[in-house]
Amino acid sequence: MAGKLMHAVQYNSYGGGAAGLKHVEVPIPAPSKDEVLIKLEAASINPYDCKLQAGVARPILPRKFPFIPVFDVSGEVVEVGSGIKNFKTGDKVVSMLKSMVCLTQFPLRYVKLSGVVFGMHLFKLLNQKALDEKLDPERQTQRIINVIPGGGGLAEFCVAKGNRTVPRPPEVSAAEAAGLPIAALTAHMALTQFAGVKLDGSGPQKNILVTAASGGVGHYAVQLAKLGNTHVTATCGARNMEFVKSLGADEVLDYKTPDGAALRSPSGQKYDAIVHGTTGIPWSTFEPNLSQNGMVIALTPNPSTMMTFAWKKLTCSKKRIVPLLLDAKGENLDYLVKLVKEGKLKTVIDSKYPLSKAEDAWAKSIDGHATGKIIVEP
Ligand SMILES: NC(=O)c1ccc[n+]([C@@H]2O[C@H](COP(=O)([O-])OP(=O)(O)OC[C@H]3O[C@@H](n4cnc5c(N)ncnc54)[C@H](OP(=O)(O)O)[C@@H]3O)[C@@H](O)[C@H]2O)c1
Repeated sequence: MAGKLMHAVQYNSYGGGAAGLKHVEVPIPAPSKDEVLIKLEAASINPYDCKLQAGVARPILPRKFPFIPVFDVSGEVVEVGSGIKNFKTGDKVVSMLKSMVCLTQFPLRYVKLSGVVFGMHLFKLLNQKALDEKLDPERQTQRIINVIPGGGGLAEFCVAKGNRTVPRPPEVSAAEAAGLPIAALTAHMALTQFAGVKLDGSGPQKNILVTAASGGVGHYAVQLAKLGNTHVTATCGARNMEFVKSLGADEVLDYKTPDGAALRSPSGQKYDAIVHGTTGIPWSTFEPNLSQNGMVIALTPNPSTMMTFAWKKLTCSKKRIVPLLLDAKGENLDYLVKLVKEGKLKTVIDSKYPLSKAEDAWAKSIDGHATGKIIVEP
């Protein structure tokens, strides 16, 4: 493919929203040793894509402009790097794209100064990794690098790391597969690693609340939580209540009603874990709804979340709030793809757009009212 051009959508600076996206012809990227080149069939947009453009990780990501956004992709392998043994040309795959930015020598101190996103990385790493696994600072930095995703999905071709790419069976469409990486892996991580839910249903029964249950993460979280034999309460808008029930939720609250705003379970449940995908809910609302050892898993932490997290940790509080930063693992993505194949998990598609209308998909994501996933198809 060397020297050939492809259609891609990129932005040249922070900010600008959908109007900041530009359609361009750029060279098809070449896979390095541990990468595959994928001819894209579908990509999905996540709120994080638009937040990166808005500057949430400024000035670290995107490190360089122009930047081709979007991390979640599915397509066909058309070329493999010399170190790739598990894929060959013609394989259908799904992948979460990793950073193409070299941050290997990036000083941890600089990362510390870079806002909430990296403060969150730091809290997570220092608390859960360095303390539990006794990592040295160099490995902490490496750990940060490993969890920073890259882009390249709004294009006809992209390169993907072999270890973040998994096979896509014929029973799973490209669009269904592309919806999975960030959103379903986040739901999976929140439930299994944070809430301790066993997805084979073998663990103790837990009460779970999923906020924004109609969104990308939420609709996977409800389905996975039900696989884990939990009692699920969910919040969503009035128009999506039947939809969220159809995903398996036991109780559904309209977030615009007083009970919904108070997160109050109709049957009086106290939640062992809250997979929290919205913003603007104070600790004083969560606290009375949590069970004795209940936990809020904050997907969109802000400074107030971090203060409460630190305070609860300092005071050894049993009820707590913890920020989650996705640590995407190929084996978990493989597991989720298999669940879709077996009909145990579904990707609900809000809307599909051709690559030529990528800015409309972008605007839809920024709007924040998707039901399920937003897909772009080259
Ligand atoms: N920490 C991480 O690693 C990580 C990973 C993935 C995602 N996230 C974050 O998690 C959040 C959710 O992501 P997503 O992909 O699920 O977003 P999304 O698909 O854009 O969510 C949209 C849905 O949220 C619903 N919603 C909005 N406000 C709500 C409220 N107050 N109560 C209940 N539902 C509400 C909307 O319903 P209506 O249309 O009815 O309003 C809509 O269906 C985002 O902020 C994202 O950045 C974080």
